[in-house]
Amino acid sequence: MNGIKIRGTGHCVPEHVVTNDDLAKIVDTSDEWIASRTGIRRRHHCTTENHTSLCVSAARTALERSGVAPEDIGACIVATLSADTAVPASACLLQRELGLPTDIPCFDLNAACTGFLFALHTIECLLSVSPRKFGLVVGGEYLSRLINWEDRGTCILFGDGAGAAVVESRAEWPSIGAVMGTQGDDQLLNVPGLESGRRSLISMDGTKVFKFAVETVPACMDAVLRRHNCTVDDVDFFVFHQANARIIDLVVRKHRIPPEKYYKNVDEYGNTSAASIPLVLSELQERGRIGSGSRILAVGFGGGLTWGGAMIEFA
Ligand SMILES: CC(C)(COP(=O)(O)OP(=O)(O)OC[C@H]1O[C@@H](n2cnc3c(N)ncnc32)[C@H](O)[C@@H]1OP(=O)(O)O)[C@@H](O)C(=O)NCCC(=O)NCCS
Repeated sequence: MNGIKIRGTGHCVPEHVVTNDDLAKIVDTSDEWIASRTGIRRRHHCTTENHTSLCVSAARTALERSGVAPEDIGACIVATLSADTAVPASACLLQRELGLPTDIPCFDLNAACTGFLFALHTIECLLSVSPRKFGLVVGGEYLSRLINWEDRGTCILFGDGAGAAVVESRAEWPSIGAVMGTQGDDQLLNVPGLESGRRSLISMDGTKVFKFAVETVPACMDAVLRRHNCTVDDVDFFVFHQANARIIDLVVRKHRIPPEKYYKNVDEYGNTSAASIPLVLSELQERGRIGSGSRILAVGFGGGLTWGGAMIEFA
């Protein structure tokens, strides 16, 4: 099977910023409580934007940075749980907006916050048998419309945004060697569907999800390192799903990862689910902290339950 590398990334977040103090006017909370428990200080919520516009903008930047033409894209996957429409898939709307070829698969994938990594693995497989060797993977969320404003334990956590990556597939490149897992559970993290008779709002057992995350992320990291036969020292950068700064702090302490090798933007964006990992990748590329030749270990976890990790390289 061919391996993939990233050619370019992009991201887009809504303009409207919601601070912790703004939330304290709506629910019984405080900046001090939110910042100390989660590391979150601000999040961006859609007002004039929507899911499609965020994804289109992130994807356009990724195409520009990669120098790849839309007509050379061989597959497009949008990882999301909050698309504007159930049908058409947001990947089909993206195809239309960007002018991608019509003889390629464009579809959405829901693996909650691990969606981007599931999508990267899927596109690696698809491009291996495709005549076109470039692919577009987007993680995009409009979570603010799924927030239960009566639940102070969850309404403080989530933000909107999109991140995108253009990847290239080549026979001589190693696979990203994705490690993935799922375990059916509708209690820890749940967003009811259309037919449930309940409003489609996020509910979560935060304490149990926290425990799940701090056990799963280090195990995933170890599995990726083993699969690639390498150690923490062989990795240039670690990218973690941005759900809670305390989860990241516990993991980097456990694995003795030096501060220059990881990054947190949860303070600015909150938890953007499937968008969180590509948002980090794009900000890091924009700031010149990762680029051609960088070897990045990315790990995600989320509702489903889902979890996954992969070794991502930049071409
Ligand atoms: C959500 C989270 C921040 C809550 O922190 P916590 O320390 O577990 O807090 P708890 O839920 O145990 O609540 C502790 C107290 O704070 C209160 N509380 C909850 N949210 C609050 C808020 N926004 N402001 C003030 N108090 C709050 C609770 O009511 C509870 O009060 P009580 O003891 O009087 O009942 C934390 O559990 C978490 O981050 N979990 C992981 C979430 C995650 O990663 N989700 C994404 C998965 S992809």
